[in-house]
Amino acid sequence: MDYLDIQGPCALKGTVKVSSSKNASLPILAATLLYPGKCRFTNLPELSDINFFIQILQSLGATCEEGTVDASSIESYQADYDLVRKMRASVLVLGPLLSRFKQARVSLPGGCAIGSRPVDIHLSGMEKLGANIKIEAGYIEASCEKLVGAKIVLPFPSVGATENLMMAAAYAEGETIIDNAAREPEIEDLANFMTKLGFSVEGAGTSTIVIKGRSVEEMSSIEVTHEIIGDRIEAATYIIGALITNSTARVEGFKSVHLDIVLDTLKSMGAQLLIEEDAVEVRPSGQLSGTRVETAPYPGFPTDAQAQLMALMGVCKGDSQISEHIFENRFMHVPELARMGYDIKVDGRVAYIKGESSLKAAPVMCTDLRASAALVLAAMAAEGTSQINRIYHLDRGYAKLADKLKSLNVNIERVKQ
Ligand code: EPZ
Repeated sequence: MDYLDIQGPCALKGTVKVSSSKNASLPILAATLLYPGKCRFTNLPELSDINFFIQILQSLGATCEEGTVDASSIESYQADYDLVRKMRASVLVLGPLLSRFKQARVSLPGGCAIGSRPVDIHLSGMEKLGANIKIEAGYIEASCEKLVGAKIVLPFPSVGATENLMMAAAYAEGETIIDNAAREPEIEDLANFMTKLGFSVEGAGTSTIVIKGRSVEEMSSIEVTHEIIGDRIEAATYIIGALITNSTARVEGFKSVHLDIVLDTLKSMGAQLLIEEDAVEVRPSGQLSGTRVETAPYPGFPTDAQAQLMALMGVCKGDSQISEHIFENRFMHVPELARMGYDIKVDGRVAYIKGESSLKAAPVMCTDLRASAALVLAAMAAEGTSQINRIYHLDRGYAKLADKLKSLNVNIERVKQ
């Protein structure tokens, strides 16, 4: 397995452009199953999660070539366990298959490192639309005579459930209202793509999304082109990279408004940031001050940037605290960070981070995608050469990470094994 060698401490300089968003690309790829024509994407990110999802679309009979997906002739409605277990977001094919073909058989996505990740909110919403759902031999068996629009109030603003239900409602008869919907920018991008396909989706980005069902017969099949939004979490990672090394960087290719609370938090810690519409420039900021953060659904502090912020907090003046309210087990980076000199205590969902740690390089192991990013950031600040193992976790969500960090003057090598 490949690993990364990172020699710290680094001084970043230069400009990096983030790739398109993993968490926008996945639901948008699922939505191609709704469309009886070709969809062309100008900037799909080169990520293993995207490659897995394309394999799932192909297993259903879609034709996928060079950034295009054509789901006009789907032959199967089953997403198999061996693919779903690698790509838990594949549960997102459930809504579009059920809506367009009135049936779907999708392996229950198992849990993952950061939590049990149930899909009860997805399934109960689909039942409200008229679907028959049963769980058999580890598979979700969904079917319906037809789906009828309904008002669905989510018990929690689940990102995946919001996306799955938007797609399930696409061909439901009449109007569907999703209340307490997730408000993430990736959901707005999905809605923009669905609108291009010819669907009626209003209110994405707010807590109330209204979908007026279409009929398959009235859909056109002209080719649709879409450019996916930049990855705000990748952007946050590089911004924190410049701050943890008290150096500079210009991070481009994303909407800074999608990182409002992250940028506000960093500025409150003393970060000197020049914020433009599609870029953020990190200026020399000196040692930042610790703070307290609670993760929350968008527009609250994103759980996907929690591990990266924790790495920064370890070198701040004074102590910090992070409460993780979204996932039940998202502190697995803590013991690995401790190997590099961090002093972090975890009590349930709260992590207490001592400031002013003097970081020393160490061999460490990735456990999940964002935990891996935290280890990379820590290694950039630590004295000596760290070896970061199991970087297949990183490849899920960070395209060309070593190349991008090298372009920012980081002393990093990806060692192939
Ligand atoms: C999406 O996951 C993202 N993944 C996650 O990013 C992100 O952390 C998460 O949203 C929260 O922002 C993609 O978009 C592909 P949720 P998702 O449904 O949809 C519970 C990354 O690092 N829940 O909002 O799975 C669930 O257990 C990944 O890029 C239920 O209980 O997140 C969790 O505790 C990690 N029942 C909470 O809600 C359900 O039916 C949030 O889950 C669904 C969710």
